Amino acid sequence: MNMVEIICKKRDKEKLSQQEIEYFISNYTSGDIPDYQASALAMAILLNGMDEEEISQMTMAMAHSGETLNLSEHAAFSVDKHSTGGVGDKTTLIVQPIVSSCGVAVAKMSGRGLGFSGGTIDKLESIPGMRIDLSKEEFLSQLQRIGSVISGQSKHLAPADGKMYALRDVTGTVPSQALIASSIMSKKLAVSTNAILLDVKVGKGAFMKTIEDAKSLAKLMCSIGRYNGRIMRAELSDMNQPLGYMVGNILEVKEAVSMLKGEPAAPDLYEHCIDSSAQLLQMASKAKTFEEGKKMAEDALTSGRAFEKLKEMIAAQSGDVSYLDDTSKFPEAPFVEVCEAPEDGFVAAIDAQEVGETGVELGGGRHQKTDPIDYRVGIEIHHKVGDQIYEGDPLFTVHAHDEETLAYARLRLHAAHRISPAPVNKLPQFYGIVE
Ligand code: URA
Repeated sequence: MNMVEIICKKRDKEKLSQQEIEYFISNYTSGDIPDYQASALAMAILLNGMDEEEISQMTMAMAHSGETLNLSEHAAFSVDKHSTGGVGDKTTLIVQPIVSSCGVAVAKMSGRGLGFSGGTIDKLESIPGMRIDLSKEEFLSQLQRIGSVISGQSKHLAPADGKMYALRDVTGTVPSQALIASSIMSKKLAVSTNAILLDVKVGKGAFMKTIEDAKSLAKLMCSIGRYNGRIMRAELSDMNQPLGYMVGNILEVKEAVSMLKGEPAAPDLYEHCIDSSAQLLQMASKAKTFEEGKKMAEDALTSGRAFEKLKEMIAAQSGDVSYLDDTSKFPEAPFVEVCEAPEDGFVAAIDAQEVGETGVELGGGRHQKTDPIDYRVGIEIHHKVGDQIYEGDPLFTVHAHDEETLAYARLRLHAAHRISPAPVNKLPQFYGIVE
């Protein structure tokens, strides 16, 4: 078997065999297939797609590219959640501690930023000391001890996804149903959680731009999960505007911590987190109904239990929790500018993809695999779609590392906002559930 033939087959819209898929995944993981050939295949897959059988074979090959974790001896029942990638999506930092503080174990493998979307692992790494490269033993013992653990892909856990993910981030090969489904589900299946909630984003700042595409991705991932014995549910959620007010690694950690401390939160972020937590609590049979799950989630927040649980997890992974107690300890970007609304009106659109790409240009994401991230930079959105605003109101704040990127971001973010003279409806938070 050789890699050039495999690339040509997919280029010519042919179906790959299970042996070809396994050959690619195992040899790319071991380093015997170079990045340039893997990128060519990823692009051919993005352009020509894969059928369900190929996607499921690719998922299983990736899931078994490293160790697999059997959680059954470490948690009676465990859950996981995963988003398909969005802008300002810090929900894991909030939902995971809410759910685990309600007595449901959460074992999660997350990713870094991908294209214009942010990644939980980058956000967590902005906390000094935080370790996300846990060994199998560390992962399992932390789950057993505190009921909450989060890790990135590593050379032990889903290494094929770790490599493919970093490659796709910088080769324009992210928005492919086959590559997203296999990436997400391989991470999920490498760990034997009992129930998985998928947050499939839809809209301008999502990889799925239409509800139809989001639904088909959700169904595909749910069916792979169910086939492998998992309880699956997917929510389709809005990603036309950024989620919450903050976009950027440290900024998003601060926003998540602020909500966990019971401070006023962006309404869309609050609704999203309570809803996802309630879904998970219900899937774990901790809550009998969705409404009961919502009450439990709200109580975990207002009692401070969820915040304590986040700190417990961060401390267990060597993160310095004094930064969470006092978020003013985080470093600030050297250039911070508040930009004002140019006219009176109603916010009609905040293009989430534009905001996400601007965040990457500010230094919050990568252009090349080895690019370092500036955790301090980002964007603060002061309004949501539907809000009434007046000329001179703060519209957004840019956090930049130099004046040049600040000026660039200012222009791009003004263009990303559309203001209408007539009232505009708020955006829905969810577009449905796929079970
Ligand atoms: N999240 C993942 O883990 N993989 C993707 O491809 C997209 C979002």
